[in-house]
Amino acid sequence: MSCRVVVLLSGRGSNLQALLANIERHDIPAEVVGVISNRPGAGGLAIARAAGITAACIDHRQYAKEPNARAPDAEASPRASFERVLSTTIDALEPDVVLLAGFMRILTPEFVRHYSPRLLNIHPSLLPDHRGLDTHARALARGDPIHGASVHVVTPELDAGPVIAQVVVPVMTDDDPESLAQRVQQGEHLLYPTVLAWYADGRLELGAEQIRLDANVLPVTGMRFALDELSALTPRGTLARGDDSHSTCSRGDHTHGGHAHSDHSEVP
Ligand code: GRF
Repeated sequence: MSCRVVVLLSGRGSNLQALLANIERHDIPAEVVGVISNRPGAGGLAIARAAGITAACIDHRQYAKEPNARAPDAEASPRASFERVLSTTIDALEPDVVLLAGFMRILTPEFVRHYSPRLLNIHPSLLPDHRGLDTHARALARGDPIHGASVHVVTPELDAGPVIAQVVVPVMTDDDPESLAQRVQQGEHLLYPTVLAWYADGRLELGAEQIRLDANVLPVTGMRFALDELSALTPRGTLARGDDSHSTCSRGDHTHGGHAHSDHSEVP
C-alpha cells in the first residue's frame, strides 16, 4: 500500500517538485495526497494543482488579524486557531507522514505532539549548526568549510528532534549566500526523496528520541551523505545511471559528530 504524504509549505515548492518527480521516476510507494500552504501566492500550490493534487491555502494572517472570525472559541490564540484549521485539513487527508518543506510557521507543542513522530522537516544546515533563518549567510560568515541540509523529526522542543539524514556540500571560496543556497538545494532535492523512500519502503522507524534505519539506530547526525555520493544514487539506493547495484545504507558517513536537532523557523 502506498504511503500517504501531506506536504506543508510556504514558498517556491522546489522540494515538493523533487518529491513528486522522484516518487514517479523511482516508483517510491508514496503518494502526495495534499499540499497545504499558509501563503496564497506560494509556488508550491501551483505545482500541486498542476499535478492534480488537492491544494489548500490556510492563510495564517487571517487568524492574526481576526482571531475570532473563524474560531468561535474566544480563548483560542490566533496561532491555536490557525493550527486547529490546519490540523483538521491535514487529518481529513489521512496522511501516514507530514512533510514540512519550507513551511515558515512555528508550530505549537500541541500541534507537533498530535503528529509526532510522523512530522518531518528539511532544514538548510547541518544541524545542530545554524538553526533558524539565514543559514547560508551564517555558514559563510563563520568560515565553515562545509555546509548542507538535514531532514529531521520535528519535536515540541524547538531544534531538538532527531536527525534522519544529512547532505554535505563543500563551501567554495567565491560562494555568496545565493550560490551556496543553490548547492544546498541540489542536495535537498535528493535527500528528502531518499528519506521518504526509506519510510515508504518500511525501512525507517521514526521516534521522538531516536531513529532506526533497517533496525539500526542512527547516529546523531543521521545518515550523512556527500552531495556527489547522493547524486550517484537513486532515492531507493540503486545507482542513478540505470545500474541496479545496491545500496545507500552502508554508504553514509558516520564519522562526523553532532547532536540531534529538529529545526523550524518562522517569518511573518
Ligand atoms: C528549503 O531550502 C528548505 O531547506 C527550507 O525551506 C526551503 C524551501 O524551499 N526549510 P522550496 O520552497 O522547497 O523551494
